[in-house]
Amino acid sequence: MEIPWWRDAVVYEIYVRSFADASGDGVGDLVGVRERLPYLRRLGVDAVWLTPFYPSPMADGGYDVADYRGVDPLFGTLADFETLIHDAHQHGLKVLVDIVPNHSSSAHPWFQEALRGERRDRYMFADQPNNWQSTFSGPAWTQVPDGQWYLHLFAPEQPDFNWRNPEVHQEFLDILKFWLDRGVDGFRIDVAMGLYKAEGLPDVKDQSFKAASPVWGQPEVHEVYRNWRKLLDTYPGRRMAVGEVWTDSSADLALYVRPDELHQSFNFAWLQAPWSPTAFKKVIDETLATVPFATWVLSNHDVVRHRTRYEVSDPGTGLMRAKAALLAMLALPGSAYLYQGEELGLPEVTDLPPEARQDPVFFQSEGKLPGRDGCRVPLPWSSEGDSLGFSPDGVRPWLPQPEEFAALSVASQDGHPGSTLEFYRQALACRRELAGVIPYTLEWLDSPEGALFFARGSLICAINCGTEAVRLPAHDNVLLASGPLTDGLLPPDSAVWLHAG
Ligand code: NOJ
Repeated sequence: MEIPWWRDAVVYEIYVRSFADASGDGVGDLVGVRERLPYLRRLGVDAVWLTPFYPSPMADGGYDVADYRGVDPLFGTLADFETLIHDAHQHGLKVLVDIVPNHSSSAHPWFQEALRGERRDRYMFADQPNNWQSTFSGPAWTQVPDGQWYLHLFAPEQPDFNWRNPEVHQEFLDILKFWLDRGVDGFRIDVAMGLYKAEGLPDVKDQSFKAASPVWGQPEVHEVYRNWRKLLDTYPGRRMAVGEVWTDSSADLALYVRPDELHQSFNFAWLQAPWSPTAFKKVIDETLATVPFATWVLSNHDVVRHRTRYEVSDPGTGLMRAKAALLAMLALPGSAYLYQGEELGLPEVTDLPPEARQDPVFFQSEGKLPGRDGCRVPLPWSSEGDSLGFSPDGVRPWLPQPEEFAALSVASQDGHPGSTLEFYRQALACRRELAGVIPYTLEWLDSPEGALFFARGSLICAINCGTEAVRLPAHDNVLLASGPLTDGLLPPDSAVWLHAG
């Protein structure tokens, strides 16, 4: 069987607001992305995923979509998008766009109609609210002036669609066609385990993302993905879809990637695993046993950057672990999703002042939760200037960058052996050479306490999560290490790729 391009692809998430600002308004845009395509090509990724750039009041960074078939002036024009996709393809990069089917913006014409009392059946209106809470804190229901309530599992500006209405199905099929006709290679599906809510909207005790819950993961949602798959399959070039599925069970996750549904779903269990060989091994075993096409992800625009998650008392440990985890991840069978800035070793920015914060999570929780701005700080491209090269000179970016970003900028790392950026480039180049040579399957090797060793054909990966240096497994030569090896030993918080016969 021909291997689909996405099976082993490395996909780079571009949080468009924070990637590169060409227009000079302090917010990243599509022209900014286009100008940096050579950087992405050189980095060695196969595809990019663009977060929402559609017309939006930006109540949730664009995940509140007012028009699913356009481009917000903040990000450019539809013509900019068309040029971007054309140029990306010229560079050999595939492009995924974000689809937000669980909710629209309250500024969407359908919701505006609903507020006027017409066609409310496209959303979740009720005479009485139930006890559901918003994922962002606070009640999931807001009352409208005539007394009815509407459901929003996120911000009040993000009313949930009523997927029991066939019109919603037809609308989203049309939206997918709109972007497929413009050449997108695939979709990232926001809150893919949402969409349907249990009939009767029963009260719940616990609203976390659980496999069995009246709020998430209703069985009816799978029919939606079967229909989307049928549509994708009518287009040439192996168009694909990856679901954002938060659930507590790998068996549940597997339902979304049955052969006639989505091609992939994000593997959040990998991102949530603590720094522990047993935790890593468990996730790897469960993943490979339950899904046909594995994915791996360490960071995205919703979670604390992994360098900071892995940081312990010793400064520097976080970055060492982040690089080691990357080598382990890129050695695993399947596809890997990177988040912009991780190739620079960016940390989470934890000290943003309250007046700078923008995430609705911060406001809805009345400041109790910091929100996700700390991983969304605009990228540093150069080591000087008002925005470190993110915007044209003289412009301040939409979130302030900390001083330490200057030394982590692309300019500071480019061409410097030993920099995180050069390490990512080497790892991605090496992975590209190995692709097609090594099998999809993984074999565990005996490993000393604290470490994990595995092989994929001639590639051996060793990661040391323990506190003592460990002896390397038998090998012919070292391909790449996340840090220095000492006397043939793999130090703690490091990983290595080895070649064996
Ligand atoms: C998941 C997105 O990644 C996140 O940023 C957004 O706030 C929620 N879905 C709601 O759309």
